[in-house]
Amino acid sequence: MASDGPGRLESGEPSATAMGVAVRRAAHQLFDDPKVFDDPLATRIIGEAALERLKGEGERHRRPFNLALRAHVVARSRYAEDRLGQAYARGVRQYLVLGAGLDTFGWRNPLPDLRVFEIDHPSTQAWKLRRLQAAGVDPPASLAFAPVDFQTQTLAEGLAAAGVDALRPAFVSWLGVSMYLAEDAALRTLGELGALPAGSETVFDFAVPPRTLAPLARMAREALAARVAAAGEPFLSSFDPEALPARLVARGFTDVEILDGAALNRAYFDGRRDGLRIAGASRIARARV
Ligand SMILES: C[S@@+](CC[C@H](N)C(=O)[O-])C[C@H]1O[C@@H](n2cnc3c(N)ncnc32)[C@H](O)[C@@H]1O
Repeated sequence: MASDGPGRLESGEPSATAMGVAVRRAAHQLFDDPKVFDDPLATRIIGEAALERLKGEGERHRRPFNLALRAHVVARSRYAEDRLGQAYARGVRQYLVLGAGLDTFGWRNPLPDLRVFEIDHPSTQAWKLRRLQAAGVDPPASLAFAPVDFQTQTLAEGLAAAGVDALRPAFVSWLGVSMYLAEDAALRTLGELGALPAGSETVFDFAVPPRTLAPLARMAREALAARVAAAGEPFLSSFDPEALPARLVARGFTDVEILDGAALNRAYFDGRRDGLRIAGASRIARARV
């Protein structure tokens, strides 16, 4: 589907990119050793048919484009859960998973008293809940759900409905979502996250303008953009990493850090000989209120 018609989610269909990245996390469990992101549910949540297909696709998942994309997908989840652990250690007890897709943390949550809230587009969330129900997997009592369309609704409406305590800090992950929103919707959501109580922290990844990328990274980015547009979920926004910190500070955040591919490679992929490495276009931001 081209990017000029109603997108996939607006047509009531679940996110195909959510399934796409979930398959990459599952591939990581099957094909990579050592693992950067250990997720025992990653292979189950994609369903038996997709898992069987994946098992026969090892060769394809060792191609450079797939290695680089998988590295980004597992690094952002690992980084978010590392930062969540630090937020928990300083007393944060609410975790908001925005644009959750097939993220499994809510089912793996090992942290006593941590409440997890999955906020996602209504189409994707209903699909995830149907899948889990069909598989006979009940959500734990610590997990709640709120359907929110970030393009048309405020986050606050969804958080209140799900029972988030607006007076207490929260840790927030927003992975693989901002680039699918128009810039004003992405900034509006960041404004709401910057207004959360002191001690809150948000981790999110974002696309950078293609003109800022080196030629090879730009080609990889264009290939990915074409792929997601063909799936009906075009990239709609990008942020200049140089300018983003000031834009976050203007929305209430105080302590901001942007990690590029080199920093993430140093942190998570150093010394590997299997080609699992971030290629160039990746950026992850963390911002504290
Ligand atoms: C690439 S998936 C990422 C899923 C998950 N965060 C992960 O890392 O596996 C994109 C997610 O963004 C969500 N999304 C896209 N546009 C949205 C919107 N307008 N409102 C709410 N969620 C949206 C999709 O439903 C989907 O879950």
